[in-house]
Amino acid sequence: MIRARIIATGSYAPEKVLTNFDLEKMVDTSDEWITERTGIKERRIADEKQAASDLAYVAAREALKGSGLKARDIELIIVATVTGDMSLPATACILQDRLEAKRAAAFDVNAACSGFIYGLSVANAFIKSGAYRRVLVVGAEVLTKFTDWEDRTTCVLFGDAAGAAILEAVNEDRGILCTKIHSDGSMWDLLHTPGGGSRYPASKETLRKKQHFIKMKGNETFKIAVRTLEGLVLETLDENKLKPADLALLVPHQANLRIIQATASRIGLPMDKVAVNLDRYGNTSAASIPFALDEAVRCGRVRDGDYILLEAFGGGLTWASALIRW
Ligand code: ACO
Repeated sequence: MIRARIIATGSYAPEKVLTNFDLEKMVDTSDEWITERTGIKERRIADEKQAASDLAYVAAREALKGSGLKARDIELIIVATVTGDMSLPATACILQDRLEAKRAAAFDVNAACSGFIYGLSVANAFIKSGAYRRVLVVGAEVLTKFTDWEDRTTCVLFGDAAGAAILEAVNEDRGILCTKIHSDGSMWDLLHTPGGGSRYPASKETLRKKQHFIKMKGNETFKIAVRTLEGLVLETLDENKLKPADLALLVPHQANLRIIQATASRIGLPMDKVAVNLDRYGNTSAASIPFALDEAVRCGRVRDGDYILLEAFGGGLTWASALIRW
């Protein structure tokens, strides 16, 4: 049976660090509040010239290097982002050009924080169908360029980063075993960036109303995320006749440490089997899972044959999981 296997990963975060103490000087907040409510201590901020494709490029190059492949071996590039370089063209096309991946088809996926797993799911389907053998999936975000630095309810949460994975068709009993993607559009307004699209095209009015910044009803989103993620993880494991104890590592979306801890505790998974790096990078939306996965791989936390579960919840609303036998 053909399966899609992740043969290499890569990641990148900009150098500039913004700590909770820096934020204390910008808005009415405190290191204590941010740490207790989110688990975040610091985040990385892209410089003025860095767009999503610049971060994606570094992560993708690193993954390519690890895979031993050349850019021209890649047949499809999927970039998951809600903060792409421009609304036209796709950031994946800009990345394709920079990588000189001349044979690849390229498109973006917009599923907010679930975007990387959505991308992985599409790549998996293409590989299993026999259409492509080698696919690059990247999650890349520069959320801080869409952040209202006067809104303490959102500006303490987000950071910039990119993570990449190269998938290859294999005839082995390992790789991606299953992906699940879900949406509920009835709650799209819990998390959105209203201005700049065709609903509210950019104008002096949209600028005045700060409609180009991310708006989030955090507390409502939090409650739905906790409820939903437990069911998602158990459903994914059940379908594959696995129990939480079979997992070597859970790689959750890094939105809030309390959401991550609640999910782990509800399914009975000890925190030493959970990848957490939001203390250092904050919520990097679609980049958070490939970034945390790459870190786990590089630290030797992932070994051949291990069962790894990726899970995410985000704007849309969307939620998604991927079960992998490494
Ligand atoms: N500093 C100090 N006080 C603050 C801050 C801050 N930075 N932000 C909010 N507060 C205040 C609020 O004004 C409120 O005060 P009040 O009680 O006087 O009204 C109080 O703190 C509590 O606010 P809540 O919003 O209820 O705080 P909560 O515990 O829910 O934490 C948070 C907020 C961190 C945003 C949390 O709700 C959360 O993480 N939500 C989920 C985010 C998520 O998962 N999003 C989806 C993925 S992101 C994506 O798709 C791009």
